[in-house]
Amino acid sequence: MKYGYFDDQNREYVITQPDTPLPWINYLGCQAYFGIISNTAGGYSFYRDARLRRITRYRYNNVPYDFGGRYIYLRDEASGEFWSPSWQPTRNKLEEYTCRHGMGYTTIGSKYKGIEARTRYFVPLDENLEIWQLTVTNHRAQAAELSVFSVIEFCLWDAQDDSTNFQRNFSIGQVEIEDGVIYHKTEYRERRDHFAYFACSERIAGYDTQREAFLGPYRGWENPAAVERGRVSNSVAHGWAPVGSHHVKLLLKPGESHQVVFVLGYQENPREEKFDPSDSQIINKKSAKAVIAKYRVAANADAAFKKLSEYWNELLGLCQVDTPDVHTNRMVNIWNAYQCMATFNMSRSASFYESGIGRGLGFRDSNQDLLGFVHMVPGRARERILDLTATQLPSGGAYHQYQPLTKRGNNDVGSGFNDDPHWLIIGVSAYIKETGDWSILDEAVPYDNVPGSEMPLYEHLQRSFRYTLERLGPHGLPLIGRADWNDCLNLNCFSDSPGQSFQTTTNKDGKVAESVFIAGLFLLTGRELADIARHRGLAGEASAYLGEVAKMEKTIRQHGWDGEWFIRAYDDFSRKVGSKENAEGKIFIETQGFCTLAGVGLEDGLAARALESTRKLLATKHGIVLQQPAYSKYYLEYGEISSYPPGYKENAGIFCHNNPWVMIGETRVGNGDGAHDYYTRINPSAREEISEVHRCEPYVYAQMIAGRDAPTHGEAKNSWLTGTAAWNYYAITQWILGIRTSFDGMLIAPVIPKSWRGFRVSRKFRGVTYEIEVKRAGDGNQVSLEVNGAPVKGNLVPLPAPGMKTVSVKATLR
Ligand code: GLC
Ligand code: GLC
Repeated sequence: MKYGYFDDQNREYVITQPDTPLPWINYLGCQAYFGIISNTAGGYSFYRDARLRRITRYRYNNVPYDFGGRYIYLRDEASGEFWSPSWQPTRNKLEEYTCRHGMGYTTIGSKYKGIEARTRYFVPLDENLEIWQLTVTNHRAQAAELSVFSVIEFCLWDAQDDSTNFQRNFSIGQVEIEDGVIYHKTEYRERRDHFAYFACSERIAGYDTQREAFLGPYRGWENPAAVERGRVSNSVAHGWAPVGSHHVKLLLKPGESHQVVFVLGYQENPREEKFDPSDSQIINKKSAKAVIAKYRVAANADAAFKKLSEYWNELLGLCQVDTPDVHTNRMVNIWNAYQCMATFNMSRSASFYESGIGRGLGFRDSNQDLLGFVHMVPGRARERILDLTATQLPSGGAYHQYQPLTKRGNNDVGSGFNDDPHWLIIGVSAYIKETGDWSILDEAVPYDNVPGSEMPLYEHLQRSFRYTLERLGPHGLPLIGRADWNDCLNLNCFSDSPGQSFQTTTNKDGKVAESVFIAGLFLLTGRELADIARHRGLAGEASAYLGEVAKMEKTIRQHGWDGEWFIRAYDDFSRKVGSKENAEGKIFIETQGFCTLAGVGLEDGLAARALESTRKLLATKHGIVLQQPAYSKYYLEYGEISSYPPGYKENAGIFCHNNPWVMIGETRVGNGDGAHDYYTRINPSAREEISEVHRCEPYVYAQMIAGRDAPTHGEAKNSWLTGTAAWNYYAITQWILGIRTSFDGMLIAPVIPKSWRGFRVSRKFRGVTYEIEVKRAGDGNQVSLEVNGAPVKGNLVPLPAPGMKTVSVKATLR
C-alpha cells in the first residue's frame, strides 16, 4: 500500500493521504537556520544547534506523536466553522490533500468546502528565517468571508531547560509587539543577544502572544478558543508560554485567490547595539525590520525560492545517472544525495527519532558521512575534517562526539572507541580523491583543541594508525576499547545496574577483548595511508604501512576466520564472539562486510565463502540482519547488543548502515547481481509499495528495519539521520556503477547486474564534467575504455589537460 507517489520531474514526493503510518518529514534550511517539517506541518525550527538555539517549541512523547508545529487555521465567518489546511491539528475530513516534500521546501495544500489553501514552507539561502507562503482560493459560487490564524509556540531557547525547568521558565517569557510583528525576547535583557520574530504580509486584525489566551483553558491546538470565537485578544505574554499568532481577515470573490506571507526568523544584534533607545530595554529592531520588509513581499519570497531551487539543481546535477532501474535513478539522482546533505547538516542531532537535545556530532559518524556529500560541498567537507581533527587526542584516539556550537570534544562520552581514529583516514582520503587537494595534509591542526599543539593533518593520520598498533591484544588483533563501529558490542563494560551507561561504564581493564572488525578496517586504512605516503614521496613509510597491513591480514586469517565466515571479536575471557562455537550470535555481518570489502580472501575463496554464509544465514527479503541467532537473553559480557529484544537495532535488526559493506564485498568478488539485489532490498523507493509494512518515509533510508526475529519484521525506524545514507550512495555510485574517485583520477569499474545492457552517468569531478556511457558486450566485468574517442589501457581515465571542461568516456564490459 502507498500513501503517495514520486514526482521525479519536480524532485518531490507527493503524499496524498495525511494519516501516514508515522510522520513523514522533510528538512528546511541548509546553512544555519533549520527546521523539521512533517506532512501535517508539525515540527520545529532552530538556529545552528537544535538544543541550544531552539526557536519553536516541540513536545516530545506527545500524542498524537507529531503534534505542534507551524499551524494555520481557516475560519468561515458565515458558518463559524474552522479547519486546518494541513489537516492537523483540527483533522477535519479534507476534500483534497497533498503534501509535496521537495528539495529544501514543503508545500501542503488542501480543499475544504470550496476553499483551497496551499502553504509553501522554505528557508531562503543566506538568511536566518523561514517563509510560509499561504495562498487561499475561493472556488465557491459566492463570496467567502474568511479569517486566517497563524500560530507557533516559542521555545525559551535551550530546549532541554525549556522542557524541565518550569519553576524558572514560567516567569521569564517576554515579547514585544510592533506594527503587527511579534518579537520573542526571553532572556534578551541579560545574556542573550538574539531574539526571534514572527511577521505577516497583511494588516492584521489582532494577535495573541500568550498561549492560554489563544487556546483558552483546558483546550489544545485542535480547538483554540480564539479561532472558535473568531477573535484574538491582543494578549501580551508575561511569563508562562509565549506564542505568536496573527489574525488576518480575507474577503474573497468567487474564483479569487489571495496570498499571505508569514516570516519567522532569528536575529542577532551586536552586544553594544542591543537596545533602541540604547538606555532602554527595548529590542533594537533595525536589522530585523529590513529583512521582514523584504520577505513579506510575495515577489521577493518567490525570487528567494527560485534561488533555492537553482542551488539544489546545481548540487544534484553534479552526479546524475541513467540506469535501467528507476529506484536506482531516483535515489542516486534525488533522494539519497539529498539525505546525504541532511546528515551533513544534522549529523545525528535532530529528526523525529533524534530529539535535538541529545548527542552532538559523532567522530566516526561525521567522517563516514563525508563519503556521501564530499562531491557536493567539498569546501565545507574540508572545514568539517579540520574541525573533527582538532578534537583528536594526542594519543591518536578521539573524542567520540563533539558539540557543533563549541566545536569541543564531549567529555561525558569521552573517548576509547577504538575504531574512531581510523574513520578520519577514510574521511581525509575520500576528500583528497574527490578534490585532488593535497594541501589539506599540511594544514596545522591542534590536538584536543589545545593552542600550541598544532601539527600537520598528515601527522594526525599517522597517529590514528599507530593508535591501533599500540593497542593490540593477545591474538595480535586490535583491542576493542569501549566499542568499535557497533556501539552496542560492549565487551569491557559488564554493566549490571539500571541507568548505567553501556558505553562509558568500563570496569574491565580492556587488555583482552579484541575486534576483528577493527582489523578489517585497519587493512583498508593502512592501504589508503600507504597510498597517501607514496604520493608524498615517502616510499619507505608507505612500505612500512603495507608491511603492517600484510601482518594484520595474516592475523585475521589465523585468528579471525571461523571456517565458513569471519569471527566478530574476542571477549574479555578471550572467547570467540560470532563463531560456530557460540550458542547465539554465531555470525555477524560487520566482519563479513568489512573483511571482504577490504579484500581478505579474494584469491583463495575465503571472501566468497563469507559472502555465501551471509546470504544463507543473514539475508532476508527486507535486508541483511546484523547477526544470527539473535540474543534471547542479556549477556553481561556483551553489553547493550543483548539488551534489545531479538530483531531490533543491533540485536539482529537489519541495521541498514552495514548492508552496503556486503554490497561492496559482492562487487569485489564480481557479483553484480548479488550486490544490486541487496541494494534493492533496502532501497526505500523499492519498498514504497509496502509502505504499510515499512511505515517510514519511502524516500529516505532508515537506520533500522526490524529483523526476522522481530514480530514486526520489515518495519523501519529511525529514518533520515544514519550512516546508511552515505554508505549506500557510495556503494551504488562508486562500486556497483563503479564510477570511483581515486588519487590519480576517475576509475571506471562497474559491477552491475548481468541483465543490464548498460547505463550512463554525468559526473562533475575536479571541475570537469565526465559524460560516461557504459555498454555491455559480454557477461563479465572486464572494462575497455575509450576516452574522448581514443582507446585507453586499463580502467583509469587520465586527468584531462588543464582548461578542458568535458571528457567523454565510453566503457565496454566484457
Ligand atoms: C548508530 C551510531 C553509529 C554506530 C551505529 C552502530 O548509528 O550513530 O556511530 O556505528 O549506531 O552501533
Ligand atoms: C544506542 C544505539 C546505537 C547508537 C548509540 C549511540 O546504543 O543502539 O545504535 O549508536 O546508542 O550512542
